[in-house]
Amino acid sequence: MTEIAPPSASSGGRLFDWLDERLGLRKIWTTVFARTVPKTNWFYTLGSASTVLAMLQGVTGMLLTIYYVPTPDHAYDSIQYIMNDVTFGWLIRGVHHWGATLMVIVVFLHMLRTYLVGAYKYPREVTWLTGGILLLVVLVLGFSGYLLPWNQKAYWASAVGTSVFGAIPLVGPLLLRILRGGQEIGAVTLARFYGLHIWWMPLILLGVLGFHLYLVIKIGITAPPERHE
Ligand code: HEM
Repeated sequence: MTEIAPPSASSGGRLFDWLDERLGLRKIWTTVFARTVPKTNWFYTLGSASTVLAMLQGVTGMLLTIYYVPTPDHAYDSIQYIMNDVTFGWLIRGVHHWGATLMVIVVFLHMLRTYLVGAYKYPREVTWLTGGILLLVVLVLGFSGYLLPWNQKAYWASAVGTSVFGAIPLVGPLLLRILRGGQEIGAVTLARFYGLHIWWMPLILLGVLGFHLYLVIKIGITAPPERHE
């Protein structure tokens, strides 16, 4: 009788096997995607939904930078150009715009789920803390992105939004100047918000999310609480 080798030992071809022997690809796949998880429900998919939304925002955001110009002279017009002239520009911008709103909602619901099942308790305190940083980063991404279209709504919303920081006792005025890059909202504010939006926040998100997911895999997720009579 001919013996059939288990799929994991021979599937994927010689190149894959060669790489697997050196990089441990099968082990990585099993650890990340084929790990055992408790029987859960739909609320446990909100973290993965947040991850997918973060990736979608990353891809559509990168596409938008091809035509978006972050200067007061050109920002508004470049958005009009994306919406009216670039092929599928309206779709890419629409997905990025609504994706941002959806992401805030989904991340918040994910936090609510982890809170309600007590997933912040030992040994997941650090997972919770990194999650808190992620929530802040997502909010700063939304706030900094709001100014970029450089229309009336964006300008005045950012004027009000930044003035809230200015009202903080003692450090307020300094914080306001740092945020706006001067007394008023202008070219420097736009450059600063753009920098925050496409460099600082995405990089922090990438690093902290990597750590968050490492902890999720290392510790494993909670099982939904059960009623004990
Ligand atoms: C960009 C935002 C975030 C992403 C992409 C993300 C992603 C994930 C993923 C994929 C999981 C595993 C699946 C799941 O439990 O749903 C998870 C688990 C977890 N997350 Fe997040 N998360 C984010 C924000 C947050 C926030 C704001 C908090 C709380 C402050 C948080 C706290 C937790 C905790 C405590 C767990 C473990 C859950 C358990 O063991 O049941 N996360 N996260």
